[in-house]
This record gives sequence, C-alpha cells and structure tokens, in this order.
Amino acid sequence: MAGLLVTFSDSFAEKEKKMSDAITVIHSRKSVRNFTGQAVGRELLDKIIRAGMAAPSAVNMQPWSFVVVTYRQTLDMLNDGLPYAKMLGKAGAAIIICAIPDKAYDGLKEFAVIDSTLAGENILLAAEALGLGAVWTAAYPYEDRMNVVRKVLGIPGNIIPLNVIPIGYPAGTDKPKNKYKLENVHWEKW
Ligand SMILES: Cc1cc2nc3c(=O)[nH]c(=O)nc-3n(C[C@H](O)[C@H](O)[C@H](O)COP(=O)(O)O)c2cc1C
Repeated sequence: MAGLLVTFSDSFAEKEKKMSDAITVIHSRKSVRNFTGQAVGRELLDKIIRAGMAAPSAVNMQPWSFVVVTYRQTLDMLNDGLPYAKMLGKAGAAIIICAIPDKAYDGLKEFAVIDSTLAGENILLAAEALGLGAVWTAAYPYEDRMNVVRKVLGIPGNIIPLNVIPIGYPAGTDKPKNKYKLENVHWEKW
C-alpha cells in the first residue's frame, strides 16, 4: 500500500504520474484537519466544484448547489458556530454543499442527500488530486448545526446545508487509514 501513496519526498514528475491515477488518489485521500493557513486560489476551487458537479445523481437531477467561502471573516463566523469544524481556523477556503429536495427526483429529500453526498466525495477526491486537503464536517442531520450554516450564509429553510468542507494546503500531519476489512466482503461462491 505504501507504494501507492503520494509522499512529500516524491519528485514533481513522480507526483504528477501518481496523481493521474484515480486509484492512487482514492487510497491517498484522508480527512485533513491541519492546514498551513495559505489561501486557496479560485482556479483550484473551480476545478474542485466542477469535480463535484460531475457526480452521478438519481435521474440526473443534480439537486445540489455549492457555496464557496474564501473570506476570512465568513470562515471565522462558521468556525465560531460549529464546534466540530475548528479546522476552519487555518483553512484557506470552505465549500458548503447544499442539498435541494425540490430539485431531486420525486421531490425526495433522501435523493437530494444521497446525490449531494456523491458530489461531496468527488470534492474530497479532487482536493486530494490537486495537492490540497479537505475534511467533511457535518451540518446535516443536526438541526442546530444546519441553522448555524443557514444563518451565516443566508440559506433558506427549504435547502439542506449538508456539510462544511474546510479546504487548504495540508500541514502534512494527516495520513490515510487502511480500512480494508476482509469480514466486510461477501464473495459469491464460484
Ligand atoms: C457524514 C460525515 C460526517 C463527518 N463529520 C465530521 C465532523 O463533524 N468533524 C470532523 O472532524 N470530521 C468529520 N467527518 C470525517 C470523519 O471523521 C472521517 O471521514 C473518518 O474518521 C475516516 O477518516 P478519513 O476521512 O481520514 O478516511 C465526517 C465524515 C462523514 C462522512
């Protein structure tokens, strides 16, 4: 497994080759909670959002929207109200994924949440692929946390703020976990 992971000692050419490998990116992704404090540029954030929008959704309804926060003052307001998102203090940006039941297939909240969650994983993987770090912090299903996000960002009550994803340049301390568990796989006998 170690050979699949991108390390700081890799040369640029090695890094580029590895990052083009989707499986490598998947296995390198980890929740990054320690950032350098460096700002994240708009171009990178745009790439990340585009990866989010490439996610599958039930009947291709795309029942989501994305709020991109880069102002320090707004990041601090979210930080103040969200006890489990303290990494916002040193993040360069944050993306808030909003699930929109009114746009989802059959108007179902469940599809809005499932589809937006898939967009969320794409966002986490894109951040990793671009050399950034990110972590999903929960808003949904906690009413109090959703209300903090709604209030800070002016999101209406019919829209579900699913999460707050702090994004930044990794300090280098967070590592991927090996979660492979044989007992969680059930192969059909052949
Ligand atoms: C639905 C969901 C909610 C989460 N909420 C938080 C959170 O509020 N704060 C946090 O630090 N991490 C949160 N996480 C990140 C998990 O703790 C993390 O994904 C898990 O420990 C596995 O580690 P890894 O992401 O490094 O593989 C959340 C992850 C998911 C999928």
